[in-house]
Amino acid sequence: MRILILGSGAREHAMAWKLSSEIGKENVFVAPGNGGTQLCATNVDIGYTEFEQLYTFCIQENIDTVVPGSEDAIAQGVRDYFEERSDEIFVFSPDKKAGQLESSKAFAKAFMAKENVPTAAYQKFTSEGLEDGYLFLESLNAPYVLKADGLAAGKGVLILDDLDEAKASLKKMLVDEQFGAASSTVVIEEFLDGIEFSVFALTDGENYIILPEAKDYKRIGEGDTGLNTGGMGAVSPVPFYTDEVKDKTIRKVVEPTIKGLKNQDLDFRGFVFFGLILVKNEPFVIEYNVRMGDPETEVVIPRLDESLSVMILEAKGKRIVSRTAKVKSGFATTVFAVSGGYPESYEKGKAIELNSKSETLFHAGTKSTDIGYITSGGRVLAATCFGTTMDDALSSSYDVIKRIDFDKKYFRKDIGLDLKKYV
Ligand code: AMP
Ligand code: GLY
Repeated sequence: MRILILGSGAREHAMAWKLSSEIGKENVFVAPGNGGTQLCATNVDIGYTEFEQLYTFCIQENIDTVVPGSEDAIAQGVRDYFEERSDEIFVFSPDKKAGQLESSKAFAKAFMAKENVPTAAYQKFTSEGLEDGYLFLESLNAPYVLKADGLAAGKGVLILDDLDEAKASLKKMLVDEQFGAASSTVVIEEFLDGIEFSVFALTDGENYIILPEAKDYKRIGEGDTGLNTGGMGAVSPVPFYTDEVKDKTIRKVVEPTIKGLKNQDLDFRGFVFFGLILVKNEPFVIEYNVRMGDPETEVVIPRLDESLSVMILEAKGKRIVSRTAKVKSGFATTVFAVSGGYPESYEKGKAIELNSKSETLFHAGTKSTDIGYITSGGRVLAATCFGTTMDDALSSSYDVIKRIDFDKKYFRKDIGLDLKKYV
């Protein structure tokens, strides 16, 4: 097996780390990768949506498997592009049409409605239906949830307390194209009040393997305040994900979703990320993603106690038997060190002292230079550690993060704090 991973974050580093331990560093490539991925794989200087160059590279290097990390390559049709040219290269992702489960909120909601997957009640609107949108908002209670249909770099969801503000925002999205074409259709949905968590499965389109679940921390500030980020930390397992909740999630969410792929003729293989919210102990789907999460991958993949490359081969051969993956006991936690100022403006090019030999210190915004590592992005390094208890794992993650040194380093000090009442 020779694998090309597409992406440059800590998620892709965690995948490369796992896969190279299974099939050898010489068989794992990452495009474009980062300062950390070159420790366990070969970096390839091609952007992850440069399909033509990626394809040529795969042919030259006898790559047989491509694993996209982020949604962009999938939404732009990486699998379709490769399949039109060769049946020798297995792209482990849905095609562009099935990828709409992530790239179009309206598509995902219609899919769930058809398969009876529990999710918030909704309606979708275009600019012609603005007045109907106002009426629908009036029929709901605050807060109001407005979602741009298309991908909007994580910014397309607005949650507003005031009806007039919600109406004004709806108009801005539909008529003034606040998010460009992404908001030419808007989904308005009922607000669900609960606690969020993420469940992951790997599928061949007919059967599934349940991977470890995780909870991520999206906001920049402690106590989940401030702007959204790409993720500041994650914990796995999730202490409130009891056997009862897990059973309900598999029965009411995972199985109908996987069956629905076939029912609705969606050519799906790859990772399914169920963004869930638990309301009165019942799981509801907030969103689907058609790839692994970041930073969840940094705890989910290290907890896997079986071969990821074998799972991918099983998916390729459509040989998956539905089951839960073997998982290491105990907890894994990850804490991100980010550049001061992120997710707004921040400086790059700061020298980094790692002061750590941790194999599971996953790199995101780092670059290797003659003088050592320098920062090259907002989220810089994710320290994943294990422990018998969540506290043990967290204390090790914080230990690594505190030893890392670069100018204006910032990290959240409260990862996992909200979960302590459940452990
Ligand atoms: P999404 O991009 O659909 O995952 O939405 C982004 C975030 O908005 C989610 O992680 C939730 O925190 C929040 N959110 C989305 N939909 C709802 C909903 N129906 N009720 C409550 N919160 C929501
Ligand atoms: N952690 C959320 C995401 O990957 O979209």
